[in-house]
Amino acid sequence: MCGIVGYLGPKQAYPILIDGLKRLEYRGYDSAGIATLEDKATLRIEKKQGKVANLEAHVGNEKPKGTVGIGHTRWATHGPPNDINAHPHAGGQGHLAVIHNGIIENYEALRELLTHRGHNLVSETDTEVLAHFIEEVQLTTGLDLPDAVRTALKEVVGAYALVVLDQRHPDRLIAARKSSPLVIGVGQDNEFFVGSDATPIVAYTKNVIYLEDEEVATMHRSGELTIRTIGDAVVTPEIHAIELEMASLEKAGYDHFMLKEIFEQPKSIRDSIRGRIRIHAGESTVSGVDDHWEVWSQAKRILILGCGTSWHAGLVAEYLFEGLARIPVEVEYASEFRYRNPIVRSDDVVVAISQSGETADTLAAIRLAKDQGAHVFGVCNVVGSSIARETHAGAYTHAGPEIGVASTKAFTAQVAVLTVLAMHVGHRLGTLEDQQFMRLMTGLDNIPGLVEKVLDNAGIIEHIAKKFAGSDNALYLGRGYQFPVALEGALKLKEISYIHAEGYPAAEMKHGPIALIDEAMPVVFIATQDEVYEKVVSNIQEVKARGGQILAIVTEGDSKVRSLADHVLEIPKVDDALAPLLTVIPMQILSYHIALMRGCDVDQPRNLAKSVTVE
Ligand code: AGP
Repeated sequence: MCGIVGYLGPKQAYPILIDGLKRLEYRGYDSAGIATLEDKATLRIEKKQGKVANLEAHVGNEKPKGTVGIGHTRWATHGPPNDINAHPHAGGQGHLAVIHNGIIENYEALRELLTHRGHNLVSETDTEVLAHFIEEVQLTTGLDLPDAVRTALKEVVGAYALVVLDQRHPDRLIAARKSSPLVIGVGQDNEFFVGSDATPIVAYTKNVIYLEDEEVATMHRSGELTIRTIGDAVVTPEIHAIELEMASLEKAGYDHFMLKEIFEQPKSIRDSIRGRIRIHAGESTVSGVDDHWEVWSQAKRILILGCGTSWHAGLVAEYLFEGLARIPVEVEYASEFRYRNPIVRSDDVVVAISQSGETADTLAAIRLAKDQGAHVFGVCNVVGSSIARETHAGAYTHAGPEIGVASTKAFTAQVAVLTVLAMHVGHRLGTLEDQQFMRLMTGLDNIPGLVEKVLDNAGIIEHIAKKFAGSDNALYLGRGYQFPVALEGALKLKEISYIHAEGYPAAEMKHGPIALIDEAMPVVFIATQDEVYEKVVSNIQEVKARGGQILAIVTEGDSKVRSLADHVLEIPKVDDALAPLLTVIPMQILSYHIALMRGCDVDQPRNLAKSVTVE
């Protein structure tokens, strides 16, 4: 999941590329590099291990000149993060510079072929193989570069979003994609911008073209843009106006994007339910469902697909759909689903959940489900993302751009939309009768205000974080609706503080994990006063009897758990089905403070990237 930028137009490329790379750094930050054509003839490649700031320091005052260029920020797939493996990669003749996001699965075979033909490859990357292969195709066929790129890509197996800069044609940029996202920005004055998503483009233009799979775009300084498939069919470009605002891409005074996004949750939840629940009218609307009601009304099963935090949101949705709509649900890791030869029936409804809308495993799982005849409904946060465009219908979360690698507001926005979805389907099916429907709708409408209240009382969490920051392990335990939230709390802690944290159903403790309990083991219980409260209290007593440090998230006014736990965080009393929207907040904040105390990079944790667009 690397970040790709490109520019062709009248302005100096370097500042545009660097600014774009900084906005895409959340996609990967193992190394960064740019290539420009100075005086329209000299191909200059500058690349450095580490973040974009390292590249800027490396360039210093010798800023590359030129009005065409490409840039790349890397999340390493083939070859460790170092200067040599950093992109861009040049072909052997030194004319071409290539940047790439994805995985070329047959790169070893191509590498062997190229080595046999005398190519000397210096890096360990599949991208350098691609650069040399495009060059070899051009050398052996005499084709013009756009045709050579198309011909080469016919032989490539795998995923790619790539941009090619040719020293011999300073008035042209070539871009292509398959399974990895690529957006072309169409500016004024015959300007073109290329980005892995719209974030490096929106400062310059809001007119974008989403390149589709196996399409090759050739941009000319004259303003001409041609798109052809690798099968050489002409494609008419479709320009979309995006609504992304620059302000949403800034930290707005917060120390970190993650903290900003945690505190944006009252707004992001409000924005995600707006227009979908109407209290006064006593009704809900989900057009993506209503337009396909014949499918939903006949659904024999709901298959929920996702990865990471989105998979956790799917687990919450399992309780919601089975509780409110009485439809059997199965929740699958998309990465497992796509390879286990699953049985998908035409009366299945698939719900695919993805913040980025670009997660490769989820995209592949969707395609498999569609091939087997299922109706696929997407819940995405990025308008125009691949998953949003490839599902039959869907409902956007309106959380705004989520830059912090650790997903926070996207999770609560997903859960909010999935809650509306389950309520809406249940009410239409008649399994959720009016009174409970109205109670839930009113309760959901109150959630943003209650999130505000939880955030207002978050000050104590930093103090508690000090007690846990030195731990090597942690357990997160919950039952029912709170079991997926326990998993999510554990994921937050592990991915930004590097503490090994595990989430478990609280009842599972007795089947092994209780052996882990000692004075050094912090245990976070979600013990809200719901249907399984007394069971959780018993689990707390079992842990306490063995000396575990206990932090409990409880319903306001709880005295029983308060007498047992070492630390208690309160949330307002809400319906069991709505509680995940509140109980996750303290855990987000806890992980944020612990990570800071451990000196971790909260927004860009090691080895991670925001959107996993490779397998
Ligand atoms: C969660 O904090 C992580 N960033 C990661 O697990 C993420 O949820 C997962 O990669 C899925 O991403 P998506 O929602 O964009 O598909």
